[in-house]
Amino acid sequence: MDIFVIGGGGREHAIVHALNQSKRVEKVYCAPSNAGINTEAEGVPLAVSDFEGILHFLATHPNIGLTVVAPDNPLADGLVNELEAKGFRAFGPRAEAAIIEASKKFAKQLMKDNHIPTAAYESFTDYGKALAYVESAPYPLVVKADGLAYGKGVVICNHFDEAARALDDIMRRDVFGNRNPCVVIEEFLCGREVSVLAFTDGKTVKTMPSSQDHKRAYDGDKGPNTGGMGAFCPSPYYTKEMDAYAKEAIFLPTVQAMAAMGRKFKGVLYFGLIMCADGLKVLEYNARFGDPETQAVLSLLKTDLLDIFEAVIDERLDEINIEWSNQTAVTVVYASGGYPGSYAKGKAVRIADTGDCFVYHAGTAVKDGNLVTNGGRVLAVTARGNNLSDARTKAYAAIEHVRIEDGFYRKDIGTI
Ligand code: AMP
Ligand code: GLY
Repeated sequence: MDIFVIGGGGREHAIVHALNQSKRVEKVYCAPSNAGINTEAEGVPLAVSDFEGILHFLATHPNIGLTVVAPDNPLADGLVNELEAKGFRAFGPRAEAAIIEASKKFAKQLMKDNHIPTAAYESFTDYGKALAYVESAPYPLVVKADGLAYGKGVVICNHFDEAARALDDIMRRDVFGNRNPCVVIEEFLCGREVSVLAFTDGKTVKTMPSSQDHKRAYDGDKGPNTGGMGAFCPSPYYTKEMDAYAKEAIFLPTVQAMAAMGRKFKGVLYFGLIMCADGLKVLEYNARFGDPETQAVLSLLKTDLLDIFEAVIDERLDEINIEWSNQTAVTVVYASGGYPGSYAKGKAVRIADTGDCFVYHAGTAVKDGNLVTNGGRVLAVTARGNNLSDARTKAYAAIEHVRIEDGFYRKDIGTI
């Protein structure tokens, strides 16, 4: 079978790479792809928002038996609904289920209604009322834009002035351009974060090994928030007891609540959790694989990913056994200088021999026959080891063999 993967980042490279291990996969297409993905799939120059182009491509490529929609925007905008309406098989939640990520207000209401542990919150669409609330609320507090905001819609505020600025940005100036004045204002939670990604067919939930990403740009968790500068999997801090609790109090209730609302969630559901002094709580849901967590997590997958995708679509996830390596994976992202602010593209990328460490490409392109940068996060090196420190040592030894002109990477992935 041929497969079509929608997306073009490191996460999609990991998905394409895993699908290529399947005996049943003949050829993979990817749109818009990148230079690394192009070495193992055929790149298709279509934007993830070009639904018409994607449908036309599928109509002219009848050997494609499955389309995998990986990024948040096309999921929220209903690409899976459109594919299914035209009779194409697709992996990913429909828009009515992807809303669990696309609207924070929806997610918070779902958790409140179903007693799923999360930070206390209020939501507002009226600027005056929101401002009055932050005048008397305890600090720190967290202001969140309701819609998708490329990971930038969350502002942690220590003082009234910061909260007032965040409200002005989101509610009056629409700095995220999502034409949605709604905000969620919530209690600040303190603790170590852990991500648990799960396959679900709307009934059964099968979790992947836990992971932790590093969102801040610089060492020591300093600097601005990014899409993620590295990850490790599994998280040694996430205990069996926490997992047992989360399955019962968080994972299953979430999936059951969605199904009960007529919003059956089929795909990958990402639980962003925080370990607070009074227990594990949900920080966020994502309706998809995380980036860069996926590069670490999928490198430990032993079962055929196509078999899992098909079991999810056909709602027989309970019938398959998903196996994982018991090793640890560490992923270190190499980014363009200036990221997550403005950065130049077209800088030289040199990749020498990284041994058995895999290099997942994100923002790369080939120009005049040379590999160059084409995005903020350029690539990520993933190493596997017998434990976290072994995997870390291997990843950092391998990244020495990669050079990105004016690029940078964090030196403390997996230690913090
Ligand atoms: P979100 O998109 O809601 O996950 O927020 C992105 C990041 O902001 C999270 O991974 C946390 O690091 C931080 N964050 C979000 N909500 C809170 C909160 N209530 N308390 C502390 N940190 C938070
Ligand atoms: N690394 C976090 C995310 O993919 O949203």
